[in-house]
Amino acid sequence: MPKPKVYVTRTLFPEAIEILEKVAQVEVYQSEDDPIPRVLLLKKVRDIDGLLPMLTDSINAELMDRAKKLKVVSNYAVGYNNIDVDAATQRGIMVTNTPDVLTDTTADTAFMLLMAISRRLVEADRHVREGKWVKAWGPKMLLGSDVTGKTLGLVGLGRIGSAMVPRAKGFGMRLIYTDMVRSPEREKKLGVEFREFKDLLKEADYVSIHVPLTAETHHLMGEKELHMMKPTAYLVNTSRGPVVDEEALYRALRGRVIAGAALDVHEKEPVDKDDPLLSLNNIIMTPHIGSATVETRVAMAVRAATNLAAALRGERPRDLVNPGVLQ
Ligand code: DGY
Repeated sequence: MPKPKVYVTRTLFPEAIEILEKVAQVEVYQSEDDPIPRVLLLKKVRDIDGLLPMLTDSINAELMDRAKKLKVVSNYAVGYNNIDVDAATQRGIMVTNTPDVLTDTTADTAFMLLMAISRRLVEADRHVREGKWVKAWGPKMLLGSDVTGKTLGLVGLGRIGSAMVPRAKGFGMRLIYTDMVRSPEREKKLGVEFREFKDLLKEADYVSIHVPLTAETHHLMGEKELHMMKPTAYLVNTSRGPVVDEEALYRALRGRVIAGAALDVHEKEPVDKDDPLLSLNNIIMTPHIGSATVETRVAMAVRAATNLAAALRGERPRDLVNPGVLQ
């Protein structure tokens, strides 16, 4: 019997390709940076059994309708808002993601951004680099805000939100959280206090977002929510860009409604060169590097390949996000 066919939409680590080649004929779109053109992807999916896409590929009903043999979509990301999961389930297609392996790395990124915006790290680097450091050291030069002793408000206490707790405690912070479902057990274990969303916004010195992008979380942080935050507070987002209304954020940062923001994810990626947020000093913008370490990106590739291979062998993949598909 011929081996099933798998398509990978970006150049991936050899560790993952080896796993896939044990069970399938593998074709890779050879590109480090550029997403596969949509027209080509729609053509490639016609006769494949398994697809390993990036979060930049929209895996919607239109695509699935062309992929008559498709059994599994193994996303190279923990977030899967790029996939129409309901459409997949209706068509009997398994969807998997890559949880756990990127938890610590992403929490590191969120904490790094929290520290960096608080202590004006990027601004300070620019100050030196752009030759602006022309006067001697002075007591009021580039003053930031202390992290120690402050209150961190976690919006979402899932894997990554929870991983923020030991990091914040290491810096002597107090922790409050909000989530759709309250978890007294986890609260006790982690030593965090629950707050209603609006109360968390009023109380936190730092608000860090750790929720998936869904219809409910789209623009969760809008004008009203930003105005509830303290004028001295900072916003950090490492989840998905559209969770924050960036137009409202621009106004809030410009008008000093809040002190600053650090975004690793953006409503539009890549960010436009003339994005108004880039004109502000009280924001850090990084290009979706939450999980970007060698160790983690290899681990994600191995996890995605393992999920895909399991599905093609007729097994239940470890990270199946739509178990309803098996019924
Ligand atoms: C994810 O996995 O969802 C991140 O955004 C990329 O690592």
